[in-house]
Amino acid sequence: MVLDITQIGNPVLRAVAKEVSTEELATDMMQRFIDDLVETKRAANGAGLAAPQVGVSKRIFVVEVADNPRYPYKPNVPLTIVVNPTITFLTENRFENYEGCLSVPDLRAKLDRCPEIRVQGLDRHGKSLDMVVKGVTAGTFQHEDDHLDGIFFLDRVTDKSSFSTWAEFDKRYLEEVKTSVKAVVARYGS
Ligand code: NI
Repeated sequence: MVLDITQIGNPVLRAVAKEVSTEELATDMMQRFIDDLVETKRAANGAGLAAPQVGVSKRIFVVEVADNPRYPYKPNVPLTIVVNPTITFLTENRFENYEGCLSVPDLRAKLDRCPEIRVQGLDRHGKSLDMVVKGVTAGTFQHEDDHLDGIFFLDRVTDKSSFSTWAEFDKRYLEEVKTSVKAVVARYGS
């Protein structure tokens, strides 16, 4: 079932989401919810979606990129579901990422993200998950993880002159961003 996506201004997006116990994760209700979260992400062409973005204040997010029309320059990422994530930065390096968000209509901006991270947590079946994520994909994971702590990409923007609507972004910055994403992928991997 495709769920409604909460929009900025809704307090659920500013709350710190709750951990999910393995018992709760195993319930049919929670498994159905995870299916709905994936379906909603796909219907909205998101690169990722966090549970608070459908009004559920739990520490779960999904990431998946499959030739995404919203982000044509993003490398593909297989479907990854992370429950109770912990993210550790593996380098002092940062790269500039142009981000948007399904909960922030028609606005994009540039911010710094760590290009090499370790993601630990549980998969949807409660098995431990431990992976290294690199490049622009690492930026996507950090964006989704931030949602679980009530943080928007907007909060991390230092260069306020980079705020842009999607139409202005496509017209003015898309080509430059395609080039910089290629450089990030070449340096760090996807
Ligand atoms: Ni978002």
